[in-house]
Amino acid sequence: MVLRKSLFFAAVASLYSGGRAVDNGLAVTPQMGWDNWNSFGCAVSETLLLNTAQLIVDYGLKDLGYHYVILDDCWSAGRDASNNNSLIADPTKFPNGMKAVADAVHALGLGFGMYSSAGKYTCGGYAGSQGFETVDANTFASWGVDYLKYDNCYNQGQAGNQLISYTRQVVSDYSMMQANHARYATMANALNETGRPILYSLCNWGEDYPWNWGSTIANSWRITGDVYDSWDEPDARCPCDGPDAWNCGLPGFHCSVTNIMNKASFVVSKAQPGAWNDLDMLEVGNGAMSDAEYVAHFSLWAAVKSPLILGNDIRVITPADLALLSNPAVIAVNQDPSGSSAARKWLYATNGTDAYGGASIQLWSGNLKSTTGGDQNDVVVVLINGNNDTTVMNATLADIFVDNGPAGTAAQVKMSWEVRDLWANRMSDAEAQAIITASSAAGNATTGYNATRVGAGRYNATKTSYAEGLANNDPLLLGKVSTTVQPSGTIIATVDPHGAAMFRLRALPTGKKDEL
Ligand code: GLA
Repeated sequence: MVLRKSLFFAAVASLYSGGRAVDNGLAVTPQMGWDNWNSFGCAVSETLLLNTAQLIVDYGLKDLGYHYVILDDCWSAGRDASNNNSLIADPTKFPNGMKAVADAVHALGLGFGMYSSAGKYTCGGYAGSQGFETVDANTFASWGVDYLKYDNCYNQGQAGNQLISYTRQVVSDYSMMQANHARYATMANALNETGRPILYSLCNWGEDYPWNWGSTIANSWRITGDVYDSWDEPDARCPCDGPDAWNCGLPGFHCSVTNIMNKASFVVSKAQPGAWNDLDMLEVGNGAMSDAEYVAHFSLWAAVKSPLILGNDIRVITPADLALLSNPAVIAVNQDPSGSSAARKWLYATNGTDAYGGASIQLWSGNLKSTTGGDQNDVVVVLINGNNDTTVMNATLADIFVDNGPAGTAAQVKMSWEVRDLWANRMSDAEAQAIITASSAAGNATTGYNATRVGAGRYNATKTSYAEGLANNDPLLLGKVSTTVQPSGTIIATVDPHGAAMFRLRALPTGKKDEL
């Protein structure tokens, strides 16, 4: 009995300690890629994936770091009883089998991701992996899968607290936990045992606080119900829609960008290299938000180190959306080598007319690795305007550096900072259109035409990582100098309705240093 008890506490301690990130060497910076779910749902096929993969290359998105092509739900045709119960790829949707898809994706220099659920069925009602973890992990590895998104549907009630979500069964003998009888951990172990590095992306929608235990077994964990292509539309199916909704018992779905930003604000400190809060796939390009709203959505996801997974139909991408998603100065914040998330420094309700308690304005900021060669970090600043009107917003150095000392006492408040606008150099729509036109004129699917050839001046992270580019002060990554903010000063920005301003601050040499 005593032994049992101590084993129990040891197991609990290891679950709750936060620990270091899963040690598979992947997602050292947040993963980037594309997933079909937001724009295609269950309408998946080999053709869709391979055409999209080719366009990711042609449009220079691969070069910017969008690496994984992820096949979401609805791909299987059940299990093969005559072959160890392994999953079968739907032969109509994938006539050449899944390995052929993986091979073709790899031939383009991209990674291949797949989806399953830690339940009896997937959310779409297809065979789930619960109880079949080893056979499924082996199947994924044999196909050449590089990434697994692992969902939470049909878990048969095995959720409700952290241990149950983590564990596969409600164990009567706590020592079983030592044997890794665990719902999400079982798949983690099965993936590790394949010997193939497979990025592990938990999708349990923030249920049972995955930010407390996800880092011990996975590379990322969803923190909310499913995102929806909406800035702030309230929807009863995504409850807890307010600035205090940290403890949401029902993740739901149809979560607006504003709803997800609120939920993210409480858990930002849990992000670390190899283990990230996942705010869900991007909605940029799906058509229901304004350009300004998509800018704010992308800026915030980048600043909090969410995985950046495109969720739009790349075959019909508009020039504006290609330009937005191709902004290397914003992506460089996401891929910053220091891997720490920005945090919300304030949120003020305003007199705007949005639902759920009125609109709000917010300031987020956080540390980036220094690009000045000094010992002072660079800093990212994001001002978000939830008002329905253009708003002049202020970010004081005192608020930006409040974590370094309250009420303006931080040493950084007494310094001068170069302010660089990270959206100022967004590619023009004409340039983006030229890339799209050139690619289709060249017949991308057959020639393997790579539009980065015409995209002179675009960043190529497959040649020079963001870490190296930042260390070299590559101007493509640093935005445009807009002003200098003096000691105890304020950054002032005019921000579009539902839009964002995003800046990189770089320390300016102090007078003292010059005198030395
Ligand atoms: C859940 C997930 C989504 C998507 C669907 C597929 O809702 O959260 O991201 O994978 O399942 O059915």
